[in-house]
Order: sequence, then structure tokens, then C-alpha cells
Amino acid sequence: MSNRTLAILKPDCVQKNLIGEVITKITGAGFKIISMKMVHLNEKSAGGFYEVHKERPFFNDLIKYMTSGPCVPIALEKENAVEDFRKLIGATDPAKAEEGTIRKLYADSIEANIVHGSDSDENAKMEILHFFSRKELLENHG
Ligand code: CMP
Repeated sequence: MSNRTLAILKPDCVQKNLIGEVITKITGAGFKIISMKMVHLNEKSAGGFYEVHKERPFFNDLIKYMTSGPCVPIALEKENAVEDFRKLIGATDPAKAEEGTIRKLYADSIEANIVHGSDSDENAKMEILHFFSRKELLENHG
């Protein structure tokens, strides 16, 4: 799955009615949507997804934010997907993100940063399977 990555359009993206604009940027950059859904995460699901950050000082706030409203996980495909998607979204902190990146354009803060992108091929695989079954991914592919 090295040509896949997981995006999440986060609750601030949905709240600000930016789903369409952000997806246009993503598909315009050459990513193909393999599967997509709108979900309102509960604490267990958000906590499981961000398990790697559970000792970080921002963890509790992150879970509160990620469960504050619906979000839109999207399984994406493109050659060099993980790296290219991270370039497209920009740095975690929008203040440090490059001009033209999705976070620079739309994000308000390091927490409410509009979109998530997997940080490695290994995590991309796990993160995609957090939201989509193998069956869904196979059915929607091609
Ligand atoms: P994301 O790329 O989804 O990965 C972890 C998330 O934690 C990050 O985006 C932000 O939404 C949030 N976060 C809040 N504070 C920080 C911080 N200081 N460093 C990194 N991530 C943070």
C-alpha cells in the first residue's frame, strides 16, 4: 500500500464548510479517492487512532477536538502518496506551513489544522484500516 495514504478532513474543516474546497485541492493534485465517509468519532475511536500521541501534553485536547463534530476520512491513492500528501497539506502548525498548502490556506491553529495525513507507509496502512474494511477498499478500487 505504499501508493496510499489516509486523509482526515477534521471537524474544523467540516464546520467551516470547506469539504468541497479541500477535496478539490486534493484531487487537483492528482490523488484518486479510493474510499470516503463522514463519521462522528467517539473517544475510543479517536483515542485509538491517535494512540501514538497518548503521552503528549496535547492528547486530551486533541481527542476533545476530534470528537467535537463529524470528520471525513478519505483513503487516497497516488504514486508516492504519503510524501506528496504531506507536501500538499503543509506543516502541522499552519503558521509554519508553506504558502499555497492546505493548512496555510485554511487552518487556524496547530490543533485545528483542517486535515490529517499519514506520516509513513506503515502508518498509512494501519490508519486506512482504522476506517475502512479490506472489503470496502477492494470493492471501491478500480
Ligand atoms: P495530525 O497531523 O492529525 O497529528 C496529531 C495532531 O495533534 C495534529 O495533527 C494536531 O491536530 C494536534 N496537535 C495539537 N497540538 C500539537 C502539537 N503541539 N504538536 C503536534 N500536533 C499537535
